[in-house]
Amino acid sequence: MYAIEINGLSKSFRGMYAVNDLSLKVPVGAIYGFIGENGSGKSTTEKLICGHLVADKGEIKLFGRDYTDPGVRVKVGALIENAGCFPGSSVYTNLMMQAINLNLENAHEEIMRVLKIVRMEDNVHLKFKKCSLGMKQRIGIAMALMGSPKLLILDEPINGLDADGMRIMREILVEVVTTQNCTVFISSHILGELEKIATHYGIIRRGKLVQEISAKEMESRARVFVSLKVKDTEGAKKVLKERFAVVKEEEEYLRVYDEENVESIVECLLKNGHAVSEISKNKIGLEEYYIELMSEKERE
Ligand SMILES: Nc1ncnc2c1ncn2[C@@H]1O[C@H](COP(=O)(O)OP(=O)(O)O)[C@@H](O)[C@H]1O
Ligand SMILES: [Mg+2]
Repeated sequence: MYAIEINGLSKSFRGMYAVNDLSLKVPVGAIYGFIGENGSGKSTTEKLICGHLVADKGEIKLFGRDYTDPGVRVKVGALIENAGCFPGSSVYTNLMMQAINLNLENAHEEIMRVLKIVRMEDNVHLKFKKCSLGMKQRIGIAMALMGSPKLLILDEPINGLDADGMRIMREILVEVVTTQNCTVFISSHILGELEKIATHYGIIRRGKLVQEISAKEMESRARVFVSLKVKDTEGAKKVLKERFAVVKEEEEYLRVYDEENVESIVECLLKNGHAVSEISKNKIGLEEYYIELMSEKERE
């Protein structure tokens, strides 16, 4: 069973498709990174899943049931756009209002439970407007976590956070998945961060799914290259290109996509008077994987 299963989902605004025949599957327990450039349809997809928008056509199933099923709706928590908090009220009061909206019993205990998860238990009485952006995002997550949902839908929750804020958010999301048995669906364009936690990826372009891939699969497909530093990058590149198929320049480094032949790469450089000052083997990361995939699509 999947936490989310979407089939043939479409949504248009004034005749333009924001989501166009989209299908995807999110396994239970996944941290599913939903990636795509601005305007590709990520937020619209999330709003459709949450029932904030109604689709033109298509099917959304959550935990095997239709997404409108009230029994399944209570299992979904979301943070889309912003937390929707009252700026002049305290963190606690804002969460209390959410508890009342959700008709929760043990509201106080639930508030303290979610504040602990988002590392805000010491800021209970702080006014929302006094909170940093990172804190506001965490309060949004706390709101979404009230009532112990089994699925969290997050729209760019790490946008605008500093390195520390991103790290805390990462830790929170991993904790939510491991200790709260929650599945996380997260859109983000900060791929370097997403890569540290995501177990699956869905890549969307112009409202359509381009690729769905597990992090493991991506890792095994990611190409390995030899990275070298030489003084005369241009000259060395010319020399290498005569013998090796793919040679690229990446800032002050040269990349040769031929990991089996490190010795001959170095030998070839030395023979031609290029001393190598640094050498390492690397794998392309999510960011480059994504860029390469997009440029492939652009050429199609
Ligand atoms: N409420 C709306 N009314 C009209 N157009 C919209 C609305 N919401 C989104 N769109 C359009 O749909 C497309 C997808 O937007 P969105 O889902 O917000 O993309 P993303 O979140 O990936 O940046 C964009 O072209 C956007 O302008
Ligand atoms: Mg968006």
